[in-house]
Amino acid sequence: MRVEILNFLKKTGSYVSGEELAQKLGLTRQAFWKHIQDLRGLGYEISAVPHLGYRLIKIPDRLYPWELAYRLNTKFVAKKTLYYKNVASTMDIAWELAKKGFPEGTLVCAESQRRGRGRLGRVWLSPYLKGLYFSIILRPKISPFKIGLISLLSSIGIVEGIKRDFDLPLSIKWPNDILAKERKLAGILMELDAEQDRINFVIVGIGLNVNTSKKEIPPEATSLYLLLNKRIDRVKVFKNILEEIERTYLSFQEEGENFIISNWRRLSYLYGGRVKVILPNREIVEGRVLDIDQDGALLLRKDEGIVERILSGDVEKIV
Ligand code: BTN
Repeated sequence: MRVEILNFLKKTGSYVSGEELAQKLGLTRQAFWKHIQDLRGLGYEISAVPHLGYRLIKIPDRLYPWELAYRLNTKFVAKKTLYYKNVASTMDIAWELAKKGFPEGTLVCAESQRRGRGRLGRVWLSPYLKGLYFSIILRPKISPFKIGLISLLSSIGIVEGIKRDFDLPLSIKWPNDILAKERKLAGILMELDAEQDRINFVIVGIGLNVNTSKKEIPPEATSLYLLLNKRIDRVKVFKNILEEIERTYLSFQEEGENFIISNWRRLSYLYGGRVKVILPNREIVEGRVLDIDQDGALLLRKDEGIVERILSGDVEKIV
């Protein structure tokens, strides 16, 4: 009911008679008043003027599920959203839900994380109300060997989502970073539950620095705020990203691997460049990035001419 009142106030954009709205929604004046008070308690600024009624003045900077759902144009992503003020990591919650059978597209988001994690055991700093920290449950019907494609398609979705509103020089750094001006803006972590030939589910965890200041993130990172010099509406970017992730996921299902490969080439930071890769066993390989293959692996032409297929590692551009 609270959300219905809210949506009505949003739609109208001007004063609404409390009495009329209460009547329309079948509420007593007291019950209506209580909902207005609850909304105020959640941070909504609502003015009340005698003879005129109620008007929504300000929406709080919170990732409330009903704010994300408001006019969100998706078929399955974020149809179910779990929202937290503070969690250890959204990955753990999403994992538990996926185990319990929650559907594809279920979203877990938090305003802050105590133990946000990145790839290779790294920490993902997640200060309160400053970024987007979320995990999505996916159940792709692909071989576990192709899991790298899911992280690539998510990167494409993030870039396209941000680009809808902001003209920024964004690129994708294989396997899972979004860069702007050579600095890391967002990262993706995937956790997989699979059998030999099928994926049960994958948790795609995304961290994006939105309104983060310099001192709140590592020196090699950046944020939308730092790039654009203004405070950003987190809900708006979030919705754009969710819609674009779903769009790329559906296009992948329809068009296959080539959809991801061609988009990766278009947005890639590394395509054609000379790189140094630190492999998980600490071995270092150098060469030129030829492409990615049908499984999302990086194809590197080493100086001897041999092409090496890289499944995971830390990549650095060299000149
Ligand atoms: C990386 O760049 O290494 C990946 C970073 C992923 C961070 C996100 S924030 C939401 C989700 N919860 C986590 O603990 N990690 C991911």
